[in-house]
Amino acid sequence: MIDPCSATRLPTKLPSTPMHWAKAWLDDAFKKGVLRNPHAMTAVTVDENGQPAGRMVLCKEFVVDPGYLVFYTNYKSDKARHLENNNKISLVFYWDSSGRQVRLEGEAVRSPAEESDAYFATRDWASQIGAWGSDQSSPLESRAALIAQVSRRAMKLGVGAAKNLKSIAVADRPVIPRPPHWGGFRVWPRRIELWIEGADRIHDRARWERSLERRDDDAFAVGEWTGTRLQP
Ligand SMILES: Cc1cc2nc3c(=O)[nH]c(=O)nc-3n(C[C@H](O)[C@H](O)[C@H](O)COP(=O)(O)O)c2cc1C
Repeated sequence: MIDPCSATRLPTKLPSTPMHWAKAWLDDAFKKGVLRNPHAMTAVTVDENGQPAGRMVLCKEFVVDPGYLVFYTNYKSDKARHLENNNKISLVFYWDSSGRQVRLEGEAVRSPAEESDAYFATRDWASQIGAWGSDQSSPLESRAALIAQVSRRAMKLGVGAAKNLKSIAVADRPVIPRPPHWGGFRVWPRRIELWIEGADRIHDRARWERSLERRDDDAFAVGEWTGTRLQP
């Protein structure tokens, strides 16, 4: 089997699924240690007027089989509002240092609450407070107003007054529950493209597609992937 991380081209006979390759490239970007956030991806949602809106988010889980990715956010943010109305989403990874791009298109659904709870519990303590502190995407009068809001909310959570949350001794840190308005989205791709940079702009490219049928709140029935090589 060809190693996706040493391959400079996609194999002549395309792999039966793109998921292993995409995951191998993501893992490789971590191993290379060049980028601060190798799991950063652009997430594009569509607003109520049909206007696409892109921003970066972090891929916190990449599940090869049955094939979905997870990112975390505020459920009252613009992106989450867009997804409530139209759950179609596009994600793009680009690792400049290795000349690789992965594009995914599919549907987003909220992660099961227990999964968001479990992930939230692993977050850095100060970041847990940050999730309570910011009403992501809402207007803000000033930076000072935000800092005051964060301290007010931290105090409500039982955190003693401190200039810097990190200076609070571990023993004095109350357990912070997950805010109900914060959690994961699972993105189920129905289309994935793998791209490898080539000399003279003769890049290597293939797209895989599969059927995707919503089964319940957070799961889909998925079909087999079919791959097609594309001109660059
Ligand atoms: C590298 C990077 C990673 C980010 N990761 C996340 C993330 O995982 N979740 C998130 O909600 N916002 C993340 N952000 C902030 C978003 O890009 C965006 O500013 C925020 O989510 C508000 O977007 P919205 O108003 O379109 O919902 C990240 C920003 C950068 C630059």
